Amino acid sequence: MRKLGVAVIGTGFWGRNHARVYKELERTNLVAICDVNAERAKAIANQFGVKAYASSACMLKNPEVEAVNVCTWSTMLAKEALKALHAGKHVLVEKPMATNTKQAGKLLKTAEENGLHLTVGFLMRFIPGLQLIRESIETKKIGELVSATAKRVTQWPDRIGDVGVVKDTAIHDIDVMRFISKEDPISVYAKMGSMRHRQFEDYAQIMLTFESGKTAFIESNWLTPYKIRTLNVTGSEALMRLDYNTQELWVESNKETLQPRLPFQEPLKLELQHFVECIMEKKKPLVTGLDGYKALEIAMAAMKSSAKNAMVKLENYEKKLA
Ligand SMILES: NC(=O)c1ccc[n+]([C@@H]2O[C@H](COP(=O)([O-])OP(=O)(O)OC[C@H]3O[C@@H](n4cnc5c(N)ncnc54)[C@H](O)[C@@H]3O)[C@@H](O)[C@H]2O)c1
Repeated sequence: MRKLGVAVIGTGFWGRNHARVYKELERTNLVAICDVNAERAKAIANQFGVKAYASSACMLKNPEVEAVNVCTWSTMLAKEALKALHAGKHVLVEKPMATNTKQAGKLLKTAEENGLHLTVGFLMRFIPGLQLIRESIETKKIGELVSATAKRVTQWPDRIGDVGVVKDTAIHDIDVMRFISKEDPISVYAKMGSMRHRQFEDYAQIMLTFESGKTAFIESNWLTPYKIRTLNVTGSEALMRLDYNTQELWVESNKETLQPRLPFQEPLKLELQHFVECIMEKKKPLVTGLDGYKALEIAMAAMKSSAKNAMVKLENYEKKLA
């Protein structure tokens, strides 16, 4: 079986998981890893028996590397992803993909011009329970979709020092809302602030509205001493509730509460497997570069809404891409 040559740029907390999963997958050959922290690069490379680089420019010259996962600090993602695309590599870039939509748009354009795959690390989409919720909305098993509420709270992970909770955390749920409703929100109203973090917001409440009348509410913070990650979806006939931590799912109606048993699966493994499959079989990814672009645009509009204390309209998402 042909194996895809892969590499990881940025091997901190998350990147080393990408490297581990690539070592575990049948269809990938982890060729190298890169981290600006040369000691860390060496240690992780030794752990996986691959080549270490402290400079991505050198690593990207390696013709064995066909695809690259970019897991650097959030503010470095776009720069490294662009380098990889210019070097002719397929790219999975972690969320939030870029610092602004201009950078994100450049990634989309470069990938398209060079016929390369570009996907964004919206891991939640790979959780089987979330896929079932999406399907149940589509087939109207819970009636008409009315609203959805997401909560993603935890203590501040102090290794994250370059973005706030909106671009780091709420962005997952912004993507989830687009994913399950198959619609782009038309407006956003948000309130956010900082209680402990000196530089960035560490709590946010975001409300999205959709043309069809449905709404989504997202609560994110780095203040709660333990981790809660849930999604509640209200349909006209039933509710669906997902716990992302345990992957447990409940469907509640007037008559009964059901708990479909979906075996727990590592979302990162499903995500990377899918990325590799899309490259090798030339398939469209479940998360496109445009999905990443739109989620970032909504996150930035939420920040603007809070700063102005006013609703921000979202329209012509792709206008700036033209
Ligand atoms: N999709 C998810 O569920 C998920 C989960 C966790 C983290 N993330 C994302 O992954 C990224 C990394 O997060 P983390 O928690 O691992 O952070 P981290 O600080 O633990 O690791 C980042 C690593 O990148 C390295 N680095 C920074 N700039 C670099 C560059 N230009 N070239 C090479 N290496 C560079 C740093 O030295 C560090 O080792 C972030 O963008 C974060 O948003 C996504």
